[in-house]
Order: sequence, then structure tokens, then C-alpha cells
Amino acid sequence: MTAPADIEAIGARAETMLAELGAISSEPQRLVRLYLTPEHRRAADLIGSWMRDAGMIVTEDALGTVRGHWRPELKRRLLIGSHIDTVIDAGKYDGPLGVVAGILAVRELVDRDIDLPFGIDVLAFGDEEGSRFRTTLAGSSACAGVFDRASLAFPDRNGISLGDAIEAYGKRIDDIPAAAYNPAEVVGFIELHIEQGPVLEAQNLPLGVVTGIVGQSRMRVVVLGEAGHAGTVPMRMRQDALTGAAELMLLIEQTARENEDDGMVATVGRIEASPGATNVIPGRVGFSLEFRSSSDDKRKAAIELIKADAQRIGVKRKLEFAFEPFHETSTTACTPELQALMEDAIASLGYQSIRLPSGAGHDAQVMAKLCPMAMLFVRCKGGISHNPAEFASEADIGLSVAALVRFIEKLAAEEAKRGAA
Ligand code: GLV
Ligand code: MN
Ligand code: MN
Repeated sequence: MTAPADIEAIGARAETMLAELGAISSEPQRLVRLYLTPEHRRAADLIGSWMRDAGMIVTEDALGTVRGHWRPELKRRLLIGSHIDTVIDAGKYDGPLGVVAGILAVRELVDRDIDLPFGIDVLAFGDEEGSRFRTTLAGSSACAGVFDRASLAFPDRNGISLGDAIEAYGKRIDDIPAAAYNPAEVVGFIELHIEQGPVLEAQNLPLGVVTGIVGQSRMRVVVLGEAGHAGTVPMRMRQDALTGAAELMLLIEQTARENEDDGMVATVGRIEASPGATNVIPGRVGFSLEFRSSSDDKRKAAIELIKADAQRIGVKRKLEFAFEPFHETSTTACTPELQALMEDAIASLGYQSIRLPSGAGHDAQVMAKLCPMAMLFVRCKGGISHNPAEFASEADIGLSVAALVRFIEKLAAEEAKRGAA
């Protein structure tokens, strides 16, 4: 094993890169970088330039995923990556940290002349958050060979479909199948990410090894009532879609609370009421609904319960409820051998770590359909994420890159052993 890298210098370099990337936004006052937008293009170009500086050949696939190839002549590839799209009013670490860490890890390998039995591809995916289209994980799905072509019809808020946006970005939807990796040529996928929760900070530990990622179900709920005059229709004669939606939302919250032991959470994050006027009873409401849980069965059962509640509320209030699912991921375990290797890598740098599950979704969840997968979590301040106050320290980030390099070296040693056997 080579000597530990200059952790401080790497952390400082990462912070500079993250600040530069964090300045690429569609709005001056807050960070908003959506998939297949001019800001995505600028971020992709910047990342491509860093990849080239680190000694990689750069390509982009049909979904706009930037791919930095180190030692492209080697058939077997280790994939390292995360996403560069953001939520609305984001922090600068969620996603970009994993891409920057991958680039800096390759830079370390090049600078220290470390030889490996496999090449590395650093991947910068463009659609993890699902902030523009209802899709999420589109780029990683294409790499894993599980891209759902039905999602090409999904519109953004301006009615532009994902398929049209891909073409307008200069890519061809006909090339999507070619983005898939051949599983026989992939050693594994590693994603380094801020924890986005408070556990590591509470335990005073900089790094954690992820055991698995919770499953998610996302859908749109549409409630139909009847619009009417807010001054003339008596309360008992109304078919108010918004009060019906509100009643259901409280039951959604209650159901998730009753299942807290399985890490169940439910969120209504977006709502539109029509026609949307002070003096008109809302006749139509649409809202997003997301359920997450570490138990796929309990999550699905909770959704069935909510549908039955909606049915009851509909009869009582003379409303119609429709559920339109658009995203489903199962709970995904990280590969046990890679978890152990990551733990060893951290220990070899003189640090303790813990194992912990992820309540957030990640590209790693989809990449696990392609190959063995592991995730390394970095402590973040106050557990705050999806918020501009998101923060991870230079010291922790530097250490995480050093751990990633150690992990790669250990994986190479395992591969060599396997090859020799
Ligand atoms: C991705 O950040 C998610 O919503 O979990
Ligand atoms: Mn996120
Ligand atoms: Mn993320």
C-alpha cells in the first residue's frame, strides 16, 4: 500500500473545485442546476476539463453523462461517480462531491504512478434529483442498461419532453442503448457522498460505510372535485378538492409515523390547486407523493392503505382520487465484500468508521443492477442537506479521497489474487 496522500492538500483542492461548480447556477441568488440545461452544459464542460487535467480521456453518452476514462486500453473498468444536477436552492456537496472525489482519486493514482489491473471511469450523471423531469436516475439507468424509454415522454414544467430535451442538448435518443456497460467488464461501482443525515456527526466520526439504500415509490395524486363560487356555495354542499387533499395528507403523515421503525418517511413536496384564486373553491388538485422505507413490503402496504383512505374520503366529500406512479426503486443492499474492503481502507488510515443505511436515494441504487456496489459517506454539518447550508469540512473530504484511493488499491490486490488463483 502506498503512503497516505497529502490529505489536507486534497481537501483544499476539492473545496476549490466544489466552490467553482457550486457557482454554476441558473439563478444568481441560489443554486439551481437542472438536467439538460445550459448550466448542466457548463458544469459538464468544467468537469470534463478537470478529468483531462487528471490524465483521463473524456466522452459523453446519450444521456449527457460525462465519462472520464483512465487507462482506456484496459477492458475491465472500476466505475466511480455521482450526480451534478441539484435540487432547487441546493447545497454544493450533494452529488458533486462524489464526482470531484473520483477525479482527485485518479489524479492521486497518476501522480503516485500506481498501477492497477483495471481501468477507471469517473461518471458525472446529470439526473439524480428528478428536479426537472419526473424521471430520476436517468443517466445511471442508461449506464446500467435499465433505462425506461417510457420516461422519454415525461414533460418538464414548460411541456418539453425528456426526449426532446436530450436531442436539444445535442445527444441522440437512438444512442441510449449504447450507453450501457457490459456487466462482464465492470469491476464495481463506488459512490462517495455526504451522509445527508446527523449520524456520523453525532458519533464524532468522519466517514461511514453504507449498508444499503432505502426503496422509494413516487407518484402524482390528482383530486377532482368541483370549482365553485367561494361566497355562494354552502360548506356542506362543496366538493373542495383541496380540503380533501389536505385530509389525505394528514393520513399520509400518520401512516409514515406509525411505521417509523422501518425507516418509513412520506413527503408531499409539491402541490397545485386549480383554478387557484382566492374566491374560487378549488376544483382540481395535483400533488406529489413520495414514500420511502427499508422494507419494500411495508412501503407497498402503506401505499395501499393510503389508496383505501382516499377512497373513503372521496365517498364522504364527493371527490375522485387518482394515483399516477412514476418512479419505483427497491431497497438495495451494498455488496458485503466491498463494505468490508471500504472499512479496511478507512482503518488502514488510522480511522474508525461505522456502517449505516442511506435514507436518501443515489445513483448507486441503479448501478447495483449492473455490478457490485459500495458507498462511502462523509460527515456533514448538522446532517443538513438539500439546503444551501449543506457543509462538509475540507479535512473530512481530504480523508474520504484518501480512503477511496486506499479502497481502490485494496480492490486491485483482491483482483490480482483472484486472477492468480
Ligand atoms: C436524492 O437526493 C433523494 O431524493 O434521495
Ligand atoms: Mn439530493
Ligand atoms: Mn445526491
